[in-house]
Amino acid sequence: MRKIYIKPFLNGLKKMYDVYEIRKDFPELSLKVNGKPNTFLDTAASAQKPQAVLDKMMNFYRTHYSNVHRGSYYLSEQATIEYEQARTSAAAFINAEEKEIVFTRSATEGINLVASSWGMNNLHEGDEILLSEAEHHANLVPWQVVRDKTGCKLKFFKINDDGSYNPESFYQELNEKTKLVGVTGMSNVLGTVFPIKEISAAAHKVGALCLVDACQAIVHQPMNVKDIDCDFLAFSGHKVYGPTGIGVLYGKYEHLEKMPPYQMGGDMVKKVTYEHTDFAEPPARFEAGTPAIAQAVGLGEALCYMQKLGMENIAAHEKMLMDYALPKLYDIKGFKMIGTAPDKGGVISFALGNIHPQDVAFVLDKEGVAIRTGHHCAEPIVNRMGYTSLARASFGLYTTTEDIDRFVAALIKVESFF
Ligand code: ALA
Repeated sequence: MRKIYIKPFLNGLKKMYDVYEIRKDFPELSLKVNGKPNTFLDTAASAQKPQAVLDKMMNFYRTHYSNVHRGSYYLSEQATIEYEQARTSAAAFINAEEKEIVFTRSATEGINLVASSWGMNNLHEGDEILLSEAEHHANLVPWQVVRDKTGCKLKFFKINDDGSYNPESFYQELNEKTKLVGVTGMSNVLGTVFPIKEISAAAHKVGALCLVDACQAIVHQPMNVKDIDCDFLAFSGHKVYGPTGIGVLYGKYEHLEKMPPYQMGGDMVKKVTYEHTDFAEPPARFEAGTPAIAQAVGLGEALCYMQKLGMENIAAHEKMLMDYALPKLYDIKGFKMIGTAPDKGGVISFALGNIHPQDVAFVLDKEGVAIRTGHHCAEPIVNRMGYTSLARASFGLYTTTEDIDRFVAALIKVESFF
């Protein structure tokens, strides 16, 4: 295993890894974009992949590939071992049990699974679902459909104008009619980190379940489902430096075992006759058909990669980047960060005077700087903050202060054009 270098944190307070060594693991980062160094600042949308993940998947396809859970032959057994090892890695990463880890296509599919299987069967007229105003469409649209089909009510607790969590509004909206609280661990637009442990405890006090959309939070902080005590938690593989097409849904087993399947087909059954089917126990019950086998194996490797670096180190690195970037960004004429909550991860949504975000991104791209623009699949919160579109830069474990310098220089160029 390659040595992970630990050196003192810039301000001497913490330890972290050598980001320049780490960058060598990510082939795409060394590319030139429009003749310029690849300044990749869109990790919140999807992260780049380390060589270890690429190798793991390629080797799996070359030496261990076969279908899982079905063949009584060597390769199928090997493939099954690797697939189930990925489940063990995912469970260890969030401190869950293996049987509580369902592999899905994405976090979106995980939340849809809960909405369809648990929501449609447990919610009725008079019940309430409570979400934050900052939810991604993935943790909003499925609940709108559940509301429309079951007659339950969909409510939202407010976010303060600076993008921070508003506990007064949360506790005001929460009551004994609330059956589910759905909250993002960290907003993909505002960067706000939500107190999910507190929110989960409050939900339980009124008899509600708590679902955490951990897509962003899981890359920015250690995640421990036993400590948070949430009922469901979903995340995607591609944001944790793993492949696309794979996600994880964690569910407390006491809930999973009572939930009906979401999709029906092979591998999720115990016994099938022409008339009747007995379904398998979770997690198999929720993994119908041939799963994304190599993607799961790649995800397991990505989670090990992050664990080797240490989530505390990754979080410290990100904090260092934010401390470095913000004073420089605030010095740029017309720069306004949207979402200034004190507890904030490495996501910077911003406006630059009246310049359209698309124009900002266009000029930045010419400088080799990749950012995201638009409503970030969270249109209501972008509108709530007074915008229809925002530019967004986001950091990853491989982002450097030089990336930030190039980003700042490119923004100054944009600002001088308009
Ligand atoms: N939800 C992802 C983002 O925030 C795609 O960009």
